Amino acid sequence: MTTTTPEGAAAAAAAGGDILRVEHISKRYGAVTALTDVNMHLGYGEVLGLLGDNGAGKSTLLKILCGFQPATSGRILLEGQEVVFKSVDDARARGIDAVYQDLALVNQLSVFHNMFLNREQNSGPLLNNRAMRKLAREHLEEMGIKIPSVNVEVAKLSGGQRQAIAVARSVYSNPKILLLDEPLAAMGVKEGAIILDLVRQLKEQGNVSIIIIAHNYGQVLEVCDRVNLIQHGEITYDKRSAETSVTELTEMVVAEYRQALEERQRLGQHPHIPS
Ligand SMILES: Nc1ncnc2c1ncn2[C@@H]1O[C@H](COP(=O)(O)OP(=O)(O)O)[C@@H](O)[C@H]1O
Ligand SMILES: [Mg+2]
Repeated sequence: MTTTTPEGAAAAAAAGGDILRVEHISKRYGAVTALTDVNMHLGYGEVLGLLGDNGAGKSTLLKILCGFQPATSGRILLEGQEVVFKSVDDARARGIDAVYQDLALVNQLSVFHNMFLNREQNSGPLLNNRAMRKLAREHLEEMGIKIPSVNVEVAKLSGGQRQAIAVARSVYSNPKILLLDEPLAAMGVKEGAIILDLVRQLKEQGNVSIIIIAHNYGQVLEVCDRVNLIQHGEITYDKRSAETSVTELTEMVVAEYRQALEERQRLGQHPHIPS
């Protein structure tokens, strides 16, 4: 289904211009409640930044949205239609693709092998090495990703280059929605710039809507149209990037930290609160 068909357009209108809506999503892992009541939306072509402390539930949410795991309750609407993903492949077939925090590249394989790992179906049957090499090279070049060679083992690349390959691999399958879990983690400024440029380029092309989980507020505000903050398994903050600032976001998180310290002090688990 595309948004240009009458059915698609009607569905898009019903979704209020959002490609994705998340309503009252909760997730429990046994005794642990990771998400309590998440409500979120993503516009067509929008880049949404998802911020939050460690353990806030960011990866949990992303793994629900890409079909890796089901929610305990709540619903997901894709282009206005309620969807239940049976698997990652099911979500991918509907146009949602994720780059996980732990990447899922195979370090011992070459760049071009990684590019086509488990995605052979998107590029015709029985691809030979020569064809894969050529396609990988062309695609990476088109995306402006510079690596020494597509034959090089992924283990030999920098963190930034590895992350770029993982994003390029997702983009190759032409998703409608791309989910990126901390693509900038543990990266220097230069390396982070590779990924930010990639996201910017995708935004300009306007074919994909993106949710990006990140910690550096400056980078997030630079590349995202809007930011959400997730605290204790709920979205507590939703603002357009133009209407907020690094200072405001920092203050919110510092306030959360203070509150947690006070709580621990109240329970006698911490000696004092720094002023
Ligand atoms: N598979 C799992 N089993 C049990 N608890 C989990 C599992 N995955 C995540 N959690 C818990 O859910 C909470 C949210 O985790 P996560 O979504 O990874 O946070 P974030 O990505 O924001 O750092 C944490 O308390 C974490 O320990
Ligand atoms: Mg995480």
